[in-house]
Amino acid sequence: MRRKIAAGNWKMNGSSAALSELDALARLLPTERHADVVICPPAQLLSQAVSTAKPHSIHIGAQDCHMQTAGAFTGDISAPMIADTGATYVITGHSERRAAHHEADADVRAKTQSAQAAGLTAILCIGETLAHRQANRTLEIIADQLAGSLPDDVTADSLIIAYEPIWAIGTGEVATLPQITEVHDFIRGQLTTRFGEATGNSIPLLYGGSVKPDNAATIFEAENVDGALVGGASLKASDFAPIIAALAAS
Ligand code: PGA
Repeated sequence: MRRKIAAGNWKMNGSSAALSELDALARLLPTERHADVVICPPAQLLSQAVSTAKPHSIHIGAQDCHMQTAGAFTGDISAPMIADTGATYVITGHSERRAAHHEADADVRAKTQSAQAAGLTAILCIGETLAHRQANRTLEIIADQLAGSLPDDVTADSLIIAYEPIWAIGTGEVATLPQITEVHDFIRGQLTTRFGEATGNSIPLLYGGSVKPDNAATIFEAENVDGALVGGASLKASDFAPIIAALAAS
């Protein structure tokens, strides 16, 4: 059985006061959780978030890492630096980074490898644009992104894949259950073909894109959906807790 993961991506939101949401989240969740909870705050909060989250068994992740371990890369942080804060996850290849920072599949692959080498679990994001979907190119784009972004060495402990249709991110537009099922089943097939049945079936697949308390339970009905990567609805414990509860109950 694959582990279930609810990951929150705070994006460029949150100062130290926002960390009280971690305490609030822990108060709203049962101790027996049946799902792993990961929060990815902005980089300046990583160390403090690790300390706050530790007693609550909430895991902390970064939102990006550099592909090199150190050097003259002003403004970047590397995977070993993230690991040094005590964080254990990092998002790689989020569509906002692919678009705004021109990250290509090869960059995402190198970042994912660097994350794995530092002992972090990478949450690698893929997803099609609305134009791709309308042109019936979704599965072709997903196949290309998987082929180009995934390292050759993957394990269930070092890799999670998040399918995030770009048109559903931050738009309130959510993919339908048949759309999600089709893509997640396709990703599972690509993984088992490339890495073999055992490894391919062990890697958790998250759905992301306007996941909210009122649509989470439906999304988690899909067999190959093992959790969610949540943006807006992860900022408030009162929104994120029911999503985690729906995942745990699925
Ligand atoms: P959203 O963001 O839940 O606000 O749509 C998801 C994401 O970008 O990971």
